[in-house]
Amino acid sequence: DLELPVEHATLTVAPIVPPPIVRDHPAKVIVTLETIEKVGRLSDGVEYTFWTFGGQVPGNFIRIREGDHVEFNLNNHPSSKMPHNIDLHAVTGPGGGATSSFTAPGHSSRFSFKALNPGLYVYHCATAPVGMHIANGMYGLILVEPEEGLPPVDKEYYIMQSEFYTKGSYGEEGLQPFDMAKALSEIPDYVVFNGAVGAIAGDNAMRADVGESVRIFVGNGGPNLVSSFHVIGEIFDKVYVEGGDMVNHHVQSTLIPAGGSAVVEFLVDVPGTFILVDHSIFRAFNKGALGMLKIDGDEDLAVYSGKQEDSVYLPEGGGIQSIAERGSVSVKAKSKEERILFGERTYAQNCMACHQSSGQGIPGAFPPLAGSDYLLSSPNRSIDVLLHGLSGEIVVGGQSYNGVMPAVQLSDESIANVLTYVLNSWGNNGGVILPEQVIERRT
Ligand code: HEM
Ligand code: CU
Repeated sequence: DLELPVEHATLTVAPIVPPPIVRDHPAKVIVTLETIEKVGRLSDGVEYTFWTFGGQVPGNFIRIREGDHVEFNLNNHPSSKMPHNIDLHAVTGPGGGATSSFTAPGHSSRFSFKALNPGLYVYHCATAPVGMHIANGMYGLILVEPEEGLPPVDKEYYIMQSEFYTKGSYGEEGLQPFDMAKALSEIPDYVVFNGAVGAIAGDNAMRADVGESVRIFVGNGGPNLVSSFHVIGEIFDKVYVEGGDMVNHHVQSTLIPAGGSAVVEFLVDVPGTFILVDHSIFRAFNKGALGMLKIDGDEDLAVYSGKQEDSVYLPEGGGIQSIAERGSVSVKAKSKEERILFGERTYAQNCMACHQSSGQGIPGAFPPLAGSDYLLSSPNRSIDVLLHGLSGEIVVGGQSYNGVMPAVQLSDESIANVLTYVLNSWGNNGGVILPEQVIERRT
């Protein structure tokens, strides 16, 4: 131990990873990590009192080499209200270091360990109540590089998934306290990458160029959930399963247990924004587990063409079909205003998919209803279109359309409402259609 060269570990903040270790011999590596409790952003308008390793969630990335002797210093900031310690899964010994690192606010603890096994390991606080210390943000990753090092890649990133259990539900504003009952029943309000909703999205997205190889060190802090980690539109060329040295190839989604990790690698072949998710998909789109990797560079149309065509699909040969009413109206409108209001709902459920939210249609496929001369010149004809469907060539706003609109199975009341809504929206010139007019056209 005494003859080993001494160096201080470079610690980084997610998603940055310290540079690869180039030395071919062990060293004595001094790691100094500070625990600090601080208020930060969990989502827009939502704050949380995080308990952290290094001032952010997840904690600093630590990179050492197999065979290194690590002198570990844990400093608990004097402003902390709680004692903390650290359990590093890379440590062979009681508590993974926790039994030697219990540290009161304003104190510092030291212990040493030898990194016997290479791999990507989670570390976390293990002070009682353990679940609460982890739920508040106390976890990070330590990489023990194998003696021979990892194969070089162009980009390396650090991501850690975890959940937050708050008194308020997802998105409820203000400083949100920890909710023990939700944590016990394992129903989080937030599931996030790197400690906050959007931490690696938008302007904070990770980046790479077409042709580069990307390696992501992915951890799961839990405290409870298992992650089904997936990158939409990419296939992992390699996964170091569970952060060990078994490599699987051509993987779509990899399971990462709470308190576990994986290393994923892929070559980026085409440009675009690739979305990282926990494929337990409500977590991604409704609880925050969504990140982005932006790839710049030239298209490769042989690998991915982009949209080549949008045309009408008529498997039954073009006979007019009919679609059943969705969102039926049981209440009769008492005024034009109510007719417009009810009609707006009918439109959203029965028409919007084709004619679009502002009635603008889709060029070449679905004619516009906004400013449509076809519609406005003859409201009776539009009643017929809804009752019986429409096919064959028509001209709307000087553009020709030759598609098929199915008859919509709406009540007289709903047809009157939706057409009144259309006539009074998006700059159209007004008017009312009454159910009596619809009844008249039915016969
Ligand atoms: C045509 C209204 C639902 C596809 C039309 C027209 C009207 C209209 C007034 C005549 C052309 C124009 O004025 O632009 C409505 C309303 C709907 C509805 C109020 C809901 C109640 C749909 C849906 C589809 C669709 C769900 C797609 C499945 C079409 C097509 C045409 C058309 C393709 C042109 C037909 C042709 O080329 O002959 N629609 N529409 N419409 N609609 Fe709809
Ligand atoms: Cu702690």
